[in-house]
Amino acid sequence: MQESDLSMKEIDDLGYYDFMSQLGVPYFHVGGLTSTKRLAELCQVNKDSKVIVVGCGTGFSACFVAQSFGCSVVGVDIAEVSIRKAKERAKAADLMDKVEFRIGDAYDLPFEPDTFDVVITEFVSQFLDTNRAFREFVRVLKPGGMVGINEMYRDANIPPAAEEEIMEAERIFGEITQLPFSLPSPENWEQWLQKAGLSDIHVYKNKVSVSEKDLKLMSRSMGGFGKFARLFMSLMIGMTRYTLSSKKIRSRFRQLSKGKRILIRNRSTSKYVGYVLGVGRKV
Ligand SMILES: C[S@@+](CC[C@H](N)C(=O)[O-])C[C@H]1O[C@@H](n2cnc3c(N)ncnc32)[C@H](O)[C@@H]1O
Repeated sequence: MQESDLSMKEIDDLGYYDFMSQLGVPYFHVGGLTSTKRLAELCQVNKDSKVIVVGCGTGFSACFVAQSFGCSVVGVDIAEVSIRKAKERAKAADLMDKVEFRIGDAYDLPFEPDTFDVVITEFVSQFLDTNRAFREFVRVLKPGGMVGINEMYRDANIPPAAEEEIMEAERIFGEITQLPFSLPSPENWEQWLQKAGLSDIHVYKNKVSVSEKDLKLMSRSMGGFGKFARLFMSLMIGMTRYTLSSKKIRSRFRQLSKGKRILIRNRSTSKYVGYVLGVGRKV
């Protein structure tokens, strides 16, 4: 494992996403790069597109989109460590001419109106006030440009026992991320895209699953199986080290694992949960 550039006390004080980025977690959305690729295709990304990835985390998807489609990409995130890691990633992948990363807030993007062809968020809008955020996404989009969202959902009208458990998972994720977190239904996502004034709206429901295809895509985009395996080992070592060193981090991992069990692993609840790929065009 790489020696950390921060002290244990500094690591202990990091917010959830900065901590996970420091640990080396490449990305957080459950559909993996397969979902990112599909979303970029739905947004009609091509080599001439100017794309912004809002809430880009450590820049894994932003670099992947630039590499796969040959377009230019700007990644923006509010978490400082994540942006530092994203810049390191772009440099290591020799993508500095295609990809740029900046600290910034989804509610107040540091760009002029009508700047981008495509705005993408993955597992970010679910933490935001979509009215405010989508209005801001539309502002920075050129007319005719596309918004693409890759975000979690839960079905409406589910049995009370499952609903209660999912609410517990929402509470857990809200607590560990310190961000408001509740899962909308696919219909909610569609309504919010409509409310933002977008047209040609399509929302596709997907279930969470890790396919062999996705693992291959991930390993390829990391530079091969050797690097993928090394990252996995480094994550295991980092998690063990931080878990042993800090009560706060231990409790965070325990909570995270409970939340994931409810939303992703337990069939009785996870069958009502998935992710949507949603798109809409600025008129
Ligand atoms: C679940 S992570 C997803 C990261 C990345 N999109 C991915 O799929 O791996 C949520 C990200 O949203 C960022 N975020 C939360 N609120 C934000 C805001 N107001 N503006 C910009 N980024 C924000 C967090 O810092 C974090 O990196």
